[in-house]
Amino acid sequence: MKKWVVANWKMNGSKELVGAYKNAFGNADNLIACPPFVYLNAIGTNAGAQNVHHLPKGAYTGEVSAQILAEIGVKYCLVGHSERRQYFHESDDLIKIKANACQESNITPIICVGESLAEYLDGQTIKVLVRQLQNCLPDSPQFWVAYEPLWAIGTGQTPTVEEISNVHYMLRESLPGVVLLYGGSVSALNASEIFAINNVDGVLVGGASLDISAIKNIYNLANKAR
Ligand code: PGA
Repeated sequence: MKKWVVANWKMNGSKELVGAYKNAFGNADNLIACPPFVYLNAIGTNAGAQNVHHLPKGAYTGEVSAQILAEIGVKYCLVGHSERRQYFHESDDLIKIKANACQESNITPIICVGESLAEYLDGQTIKVLVRQLQNCLPDSPQFWVAYEPLWAIGTGQTPTVEEISNVHYMLRESLPGVVLLYGGSVSALNASEIFAINNVDGVLVGGASLDISAIKNIYNLANKAR
């Protein structure tokens, strides 16, 4: 099975990194690059946005719609990343509307879900994920889900293989046929272990995606795991 690598640059990157990605992954069918909006056109095939406005157009200075993204060839969009939820106060309801807006423009929303550290320590992980899924999933089935525990993002900490496996088993049972990613401190060191977990179809990579040699290593491991 194909293993996906989704690179989330967040508010980072440069023309130089765009060039390095084009050289390294120009022909890749399983790597999706999510640079800041301004680089999407240049990055070429398999471009993913990090965010989208929920309306198709209008007087919303500084915003970008799914229609606009689709016109320049964007195929995927992260929706509901925890940083959007935390810093931009995005609610489950808004995330659902954004996911629907993506689908209307034939963009696959990659919906991010995950529990906080307090919820994790309290044994609430599955309960939190079920609630987020109930509230965030769009109306039609063309979407992906990324499980990203908040406490694993950018911290160097990850759940155990068993914990990821349990979550992804639950996700697969409730969402058959949906591409399921794991994200949170994925690196060249832990990627092969994560690719080997049942029901993990790929990874969402933040920090390590800014280091071209690290992301190349992760991509090579994805192809080995196919
Ligand atoms: P990280 O970020 O790989 O730096 O932990 C992942 C993400 O936020 O998508």
